[in-house]
Amino acid sequence: MSYKFYESQLIIHPTDKIMIINNDEYILKRKLGQGLTSIVYSMIKKNDNRDDFKFPVLKLCTNKAFQKIYLNEKNILSTLKESSNYTKFSHHIAEIENVHVDGKYIQFKECLNPIKTLKINHVYDLIDCIAYLVDTNIIHRDVRPENIMVSYDEKYAKLIDFGFAFVSNVDDNDNDHTAAADDDDDDKSSTTAIPIAGTIHFGLYNFLKTVRMIPRIFLVIEYKYEKWYDLACLLNSIVYHHNDHIKSTIVYIKTDLIQEKANRCLDIWAEIRKNEQYKKIFEMFESMNKNMDIIKLKNVLKLLFE
Ligand SMILES: Nc1ncnc2c1ncn2[C@@H]1O[C@H](COP(=O)(O)OP(=O)(O)O)[C@@H](O)[C@H]1O
Ligand SMILES: [Mg+2]
Repeated sequence: MSYKFYESQLIIHPTDKIMIINNDEYILKRKLGQGLTSIVYSMIKKNDNRDDFKFPVLKLCTNKAFQKIYLNEKNILSTLKESSNYTKFSHHIAEIENVHVDGKYIQFKECLNPIKTLKINHVYDLIDCIAYLVDTNIIHRDVRPENIMVSYDEKYAKLIDFGFAFVSNVDDNDNDHTAAADDDDDDKSSTTAIPIAGTIHFGLYNFLKTVRMIPRIFLVIEYKYEKWYDLACLLNSIVYHHNDHIKSTIVYIKTDLIQEKANRCLDIWAEIRKNEQYKKIFEMFESMNKNMDIIKLKNVLKLLFE
């Protein structure tokens, strides 16, 4: 890419230190994707024409306001790295190579692929990975198809984009994930209310029900995230991969009004939940409370892949 491109499009320059790793000079090779906060490129060693999956990935912040989200992603991934079971799940979480001190970019170690066909072993891995996050008291909040990728050889499913994740204060001794966030103070299943962020489209059913009812005069919309919130988003993402109707409807819901978005998503998910194939999955999720029976859930999900 030309110098002109760097200057006009990016907040970095080819001569910046980030383009030099272990004394090797890198250039941006290919745009891999973009999201709400980023534009993402593969980096390749100058004069090296090997496939770019062997090289690092640069996630560049597109707006100053998002830099704190990048620093949060770095902190959450560091917290996970220090957790006791990390080595068991490290294959399923994108690994950081380097982060800009003010959060202008994050470099990741490896180039991943979008999921073409979700396989049952990926589903099992992702469920285990979310159970691990629950054990570590981390709620991702943005588990959705765009944030689920696979390793280049498609061996491992990978959860990316921890920018909206937070360390929860859910009381582990008394947890009922199904309680709605607008319940009164008796509800010990969820975190204290915090401003919402992350996915709306793939949000937990009770989350959507709560959000759509929030008066429109409220400037800050808050929610008490349930301990197993991410698992609900994962189940919705699995159904998305399995069901063409969802694929062709949910992504077209585009409105700036969060309550309206939640309302329209709720209509679509309500319809999907009537489908015999998926009914059992959602019922099982909602009937489990304190102890999520992961094995039982995996067995029901397996039926979708037979
Ligand atoms: N390591 C990676 N390898 C390949 N593509 C990636 C990688 N990380 C991110 N992407 C692509 O860039 C998109 C945006 O990255 P993401 O971390 O989700 O940031 P955002 O906060 O902007 O959503 C992803 O949906 C994906 O398509
Ligand atoms: Mg994303």
